[in-house]
Amino acid sequence: MSSASSPEEIININSQEVLISRGQINQRVEELGRQISADYQGRELHLVGVLNGAFIFLADLVRQLSIPCQICFLQASSYKDKKVSSGEVTLMHNLDLSGKDVMVVEDIVDTGLTLKYILEDLQQQKPTSIEICALLSKNIPDKIPVEVKYVGFEIEDRFVVGYGLDYAEKYREVPHIACLD
Ligand code: IMP
Repeated sequence: MSSASSPEEIININSQEVLISRGQINQRVEELGRQISADYQGRELHLVGVLNGAFIFLADLVRQLSIPCQICFLQASSYKDKKVSSGEVTLMHNLDLSGKDVMVVEDIVDTGLTLKYILEDLQQQKPTSIEICALLSKNIPDKIPVEVKYVGFEIEDRFVVGYGLDYAEKYREVPHIACLD
């Protein structure tokens, strides 16, 4: 994984490679919305967005659902301004998901460590069901085995930003997914 840039370095984001365009994202989010709505027909879905990265994906996804849903968030952090995980995941939330159909909405699955922590934590609340929807999943060896039922795009092992994803809190506002390495 590239270590060419530091958080302080000024990058012209418009000259970075576009990995997934806004149009491709829109189309895939629509498909995911249709699939999830069909799978949860007749039930109320409790979506748990993983902050900060999933805020745009979640906002677009819920507008493609045709089932009733409730929306809440938890905060997870492991990267601390770097391009590789610190290996320690900190979770913050005030959720009560007992007896609910829950879907964790995540921006990207890299090693799978963050989702493993989140699942272990939320399963203690005894939801009726719990699934994961991630916009992106990185194709890396030695991924922690976590079942992600709904995946927007499988991508190669690149560091990406935009559509909510950041590098040192920058580039979340970029409307497409761009490569930073
Ligand atoms: P994991 O715990 O290694 O699966 O990493 C998941 C978290 O790391 C995501 O929620 C993101 O916040 C962050 N992350 C992993 N890869 C990237 C990336 O390419 N760009 C931006 N954030 C990333």
